Amino acid sequence: MPDADRWRDGPLDLGDPEAVGALGDVLRSVGYGDETLKKATGARGDFVTPTPNDLPIVLRQLKAGPRLAALVKLLLLNVRVPEAEAREALAPVELERLEAVGLVRRDGGEVIGQVRLVPHENFLYACDLFELEEAGKDPEYVAPVNPSSLSLDMLTVRQPVETLLDIGTGPGFQALRGSRHAEHVVATDLNPRALNYAAFNAQLNRIENVEFRFGSLFEPVAGERFEQVLCNPPYVISPDSEFLYRDSGREGDALCHEVVRQSAEYLEEGGLAQTLVSWVLADGEEWSAPLRRWVEGLGCDAFLFHFKTDKPLDTAAVQRPVLFSHDPAYIAETLDRWLAYYARIGADALGYGAVVLRRRSGAENWVRAEQLAVSRAGVAGDHVVRLFRAQDLLESLESPEAVLDERLVLEKPHTLVQRFELGDGAWGMDDASLSLDEGLGFQGSVDPPTIRLLPLLDGKRTVRDALGEVAESFGMGEPPEHREAFIKAGVPIVTRFVSLGFLTPAEG
Ligand SMILES: C[S@@+](CC[C@H](N)C(=O)[O-])C[C@H]1O[C@@H](n2cnc3c(N)ncnc32)[C@H](O)[C@@H]1O
Repeated sequence: MPDADRWRDGPLDLGDPEAVGALGDVLRSVGYGDETLKKATGARGDFVTPTPNDLPIVLRQLKAGPRLAALVKLLLLNVRVPEAEAREALAPVELERLEAVGLVRRDGGEVIGQVRLVPHENFLYACDLFELEEAGKDPEYVAPVNPSSLSLDMLTVRQPVETLLDIGTGPGFQALRGSRHAEHVVATDLNPRALNYAAFNAQLNRIENVEFRFGSLFEPVAGERFEQVLCNPPYVISPDSEFLYRDSGREGDALCHEVVRQSAEYLEEGGLAQTLVSWVLADGEEWSAPLRRWVEGLGCDAFLFHFKTDKPLDTAAVQRPVLFSHDPAYIAETLDRWLAYYARIGADALGYGAVVLRRRSGAENWVRAEQLAVSRAGVAGDHVVRLFRAQDLLESLESPEAVLDERLVLEKPHTLVQRFELGDGAWGMDDASLSLDEGLGFQGSVDPPTIRLLPLLDGKRTVRDALGEVAESFGMGEPPEHREAFIKAGVPIVTRFVSLGFLTPAEG
């Protein structure tokens, strides 16, 4: 069988979509979703995938009715379940059909799951058993939804599009989520096992508008164009080529650079490409410098988001060979090997973040770089759209002062936090910050005039008029030169709040 078609052949049999779809219906009907399973298994955080060490604890605290408990044991925790119990829990789907698919295996009157079925939000995803990762020997290991999947998901713009491309789909997380706002999705991967799981997961979630193609990066879609491109690449920069999902197999950050560069070519005019990236930083280099070079001349506007910068040792210390080993000598050898690699490629630090491109050919393109606190960010697709609009507005102004003629409103929801200190018998404001309670969760410090200004920006007054009122209330309204100087001083502040998406142009 040619490589391009190998994924159709296993490990799961894709020939019984009805049984697989019916299994998905059963699981949803008994509450096999992430919120219920977090409570049932006592899982903390975003995920319900315990490690083998946690398993004995989870089994002892599992709180669920008998049917859900049997399904959790069979399909999430992968412990043996008596056959009669499994049959009853899976009904009306016949055990034999799921065995033929390769999802479960009967053994001496018991049934054991062959994959993990991990719920996230309203979707279910099959991925590999933890043991396969722990053994560390199978480069085609398919990982479950993980923090990087969620980081890209958080940034993904969900405006309706006709075509969406998911590069490196793994078990199909971004592609299946994308199938809700895209008419047609193409999902590619170089790992046939991942593609097989992704296609199975489409059946499990009864999704029919995703097409799966085998191949490296953009090869399977050569010559095509998409309205939206998503990619959570194997971005860990390392000397190893152990796992397809983690190791790019290229030198340094070459793979991320290539994805960003090529994604621009595959975008329709106005389309967005959203890619998670990690990159090499030379000694003393500012975090955005390499990314600015990557996006130069692509015919796209670009938002560069910085999640964090790690020292080489920080990155090496949280990787699988180190985390899973109990052998200090092996850990020491691995760390030294990784550190030597970073020294050789000139990586003084490693940057982590995302690049969002918007194709705008034949124009003078802009690039913006912004620090992001991932822990404060939530569903942020709309906020990303707002950032592009804000930057378009600022770029269209004839001069920075022209922002004074705009009618702006403060986005909701937001929170103002003020800290006061006691001095000379009265409370004095020490500092204050305004944060957006949705989207990217940006935060900015605000001084008393800005606190006074923001509620005055109601979309009816111009920024100039609002600043004039603030000047009056702070005793700066007279003489006119003082008032004008006060208004001008507000320009960079208002511009900054516009560029972060706090202030947006009033409707109409
Ligand atoms: C970090 S995982 C992302 C999985 C999934 N998209 C998600 O967000 O959870 C990276 C994926 O890229 C795939 N991959 C690695 N190298 C690739 C290449 N050269 N071309 C296409 N896919 C590749 C891996 O097999 C893996 O499924």
